[in-house]
Amino acid sequence: MEERKILYSAIQPTNNLTIGNYIGPIRNWIALQNDYNCFFAVANMHAITLRQVPAELRQKTLEVLALYIACGVDPEKCVMYVQSHVPAHAELCWVLNTFTYVGEMERMTQFKDKSLRHAENINMGLMDYPVLMAADILLYQTDVVPVGLDQRQHVEIARDIAQRFNNAFTPTFKVPEALYAKVGAKINDLLDPAKKMSKSAENPNGSIFLSDDKDTIIRKCKRAVTDSDAEIKFDPEKKAGVSNLLSIYSAFTGKTIAAAEADFAGKGYGEFKLAVGEAVADKLAPIQTEQARLLADKTYLEGVLRSGAERAARAANKTLSKVYKKIGFYQL
Ligand code: TYM
Repeated sequence: MEERKILYSAIQPTNNLTIGNYIGPIRNWIALQNDYNCFFAVANMHAITLRQVPAELRQKTLEVLALYIACGVDPEKCVMYVQSHVPAHAELCWVLNTFTYVGEMERMTQFKDKSLRHAENINMGLMDYPVLMAADILLYQTDVVPVGLDQRQHVEIARDIAQRFNNAFTPTFKVPEALYAKVGAKINDLLDPAKKMSKSAENPNGSIFLSDDKDTIIRKCKRAVTDSDAEIKFDPEKKAGVSNLLSIYSAFTGKTIAAAEADFAGKGYGEFKLAVGEAVADKLAPIQTEQARLLADKTYLEGVLRSGAERAARAANKTLSKVYKKIGFYQL
């Protein structure tokens, strides 16, 4: 039988996850988990590049794991683990730092954005963030990385670093490909559809959090910014707000954009927004119930993480050991 390809992705356990996190990457994880060997990390090492409250970081780590499972990631099929439980991530990151140029990191858009927003704490980790992400991906000989469009530059730099290392020595890393959702690779803020919907948005009314209840979701959808021409048509350039809502509706109902447009032909924005809110809330309710049930069973979740860390470390250490050999680290 042909070896299955490797799929890798991760989410930071910070703030509250939004429907963007679900629509962009997680839906693809679930769709592909039967065809790939999957590794899903909770990226707590990335999270500390901005200050976190330690008790919250600990709690959110479990919440994100429970969410993966509640959304449908199967722990029997996929390896789920916490990034800091596999020391190879930090170890490979160090080596890859010596194959990455300071100028490249200074040019990263997310680094520039975060430096502006957190001018009081532009730490080395914030700048090194993409190299740690490259280490995450490259350790597993990853073929595909399902992420949202905002991670494009980071996957590109992981590819560059892999190629640079492979050229300096002999082929060591698989050069990964990013994979974007066909619909919803970038879900936008409901109040400012020119901006991505974000866990850390200043105004929480622009984001639908995966933990929001039905009333909150419907209220946020009703307030979403649209336009004045009263036509429900997908046109991200001219009708950013309406198109964003159509993407959300399509993702949560499984309908194509064309079918979503057809559902609302001749209808008004009020009815449309309500239907979007209901579709989101109806899909999220069972996920929220399941997440709460899992969180009450810490023993089970820790079991998943223990076995995940072991399996991840086994795969990661194989690559790390090859790297150490090639660069001339004396091995006993
Ligand atoms: P993070 O935690 O910011 O986001 C997690 C995932 O959600 C996607 N995403 C979105 N997709 C569509 N629309 C949106 N509005 C939206 N907002 C977020 C992100 O693209 C991402 O896929 N650095 C990563 C975590 C990470 C990682 C990795 C990812 C660490 N190591 C290795 C892949 C491979 C991050 O901060 O994602």
